[in-house]
Amino acid sequence: MNAIFPFGLPHPTAVYVTLFLLTFILHQAFMHYVLAGSLYLTWATIRQGQTTCLTEQPLSATLRDWMPFLLSAAITAGVAPLLFIQIVYQYQFYTANLLLWWRWGVVVPVMIIAFYLLYLIKSRTLWNWPYAVRAAVVVATSTSFVFVGFCWTINHLLANSEADWPEIYLTGRLPFSVVAVILRMLVWIGGSFATMSVIVGWQLQYRQSTDSDGGSVAGSRSLAGMSICGLAASLIAGTTYVALSGTASRSLVLGTFSLPFVLLTICGAILQAIGWSLQWRSNRLGVFGLATATTGLLMTLLGVSVIREAIRISAVDFASLYPRHVEAANVGGFGVFVVAAIAVTFVIAWCVRLVKMGMHDAGHGQSIQ
Ligand code: HEM
Repeated sequence: MNAIFPFGLPHPTAVYVTLFLLTFILHQAFMHYVLAGSLYLTWATIRQGQTTCLTEQPLSATLRDWMPFLLSAAITAGVAPLLFIQIVYQYQFYTANLLLWWRWGVVVPVMIIAFYLLYLIKSRTLWNWPYAVRAAVVVATSTSFVFVGFCWTINHLLANSEADWPEIYLTGRLPFSVVAVILRMLVWIGGSFATMSVIVGWQLQYRQSTDSDGGSVAGSRSLAGMSICGLAASLIAGTTYVALSGTASRSLVLGTFSLPFVLLTICGAILQAIGWSLQWRSNRLGVFGLATATTGLLMTLLGVSVIREAIRISAVDFASLYPRHVEAANVGGFGVFVVAAIAVTFVIAWCVRLVKMGMHDAGHGQSIQ
């Protein structure tokens, strides 16, 4: 691994890992919106007792309106990396799935329940119910998403710990340190606030620009605060995680293979901080500030995803997987994937357009059905 990622990897391996990473970034963008959105709404609902209707403000109203759709998008966008991971790490991924046992089995029911709860959160009905019920519903929803993410984390760690598999099979106990799991979860929970802030920032900016009185929609400072705090938490947790990982992981992450991506992550984080500082100072969501934060976000997502992959590559016998990638490339199916991806993207874009037109007719979606 003496060349920068993905150069230096055999051609089929480089193609599959790159496709995995690009599609995984898309999954992260949508999943972050739902995860951070539901956590923010939980905080807003619990605080509602003391402040004026936080859950009715544009930020919360937009999240409530869009989270069910974004969850469908996260699930749809999860399918492509799910396919590629089975090609790249078939043996490790399947074994981890089996060893995760009942925890893996409950992920789908938990996600279905959370999906319905999102629709309840979107409806007016819930907000007429007593405070305790509202709080219970939002806490259950955000906890479900954190649990699903936790299962993905454990599955990932399991896949990377081949030496522990026999013991896990015999005892059913997972040998991971609580610190490692918490640091990993902090990376994606903190990062999810940065992503959510950018996406919902554009949504609020659009609303601001179409407001008949040209007024500014409140929320730029809340989003700036959430994004910068989330980013800081994510970067500190990520740095500590890499520092505590083995020598092999550290030398691959800080070597030629992925050092440029470490720098990309840092530059992306700085750009995001600049973008959000501009909006904080003007107390308004501006196109330039949002575009700067978006560019930084894309750089950070790409950088972190490659670093994450470098750690996994150092933890498994990666070279032994190359023949399997050659075999998969000879089977084909890439054309079908591209056609399906274009068709799905077109259908989703069309749905968004329909929803946007419907919201426009209903007055910018300010009302909650
Ligand atoms: C809202 C529900 C979901 C949440 C909160 C969620 C969260 C996560 C998180 C946090 C990770 C990274 C774990 C880590 O690196 O420690 C992850 C990875 C992943 N997720 Fe999701 N996910 C959700 C739904 C889905 C669904 C429905 C699919 C598939 C259809 C999916 C496919 C994947 C894949 C393929 C990975 C990469 C696994 C790996 O590299 O080991 N996710 N997800």
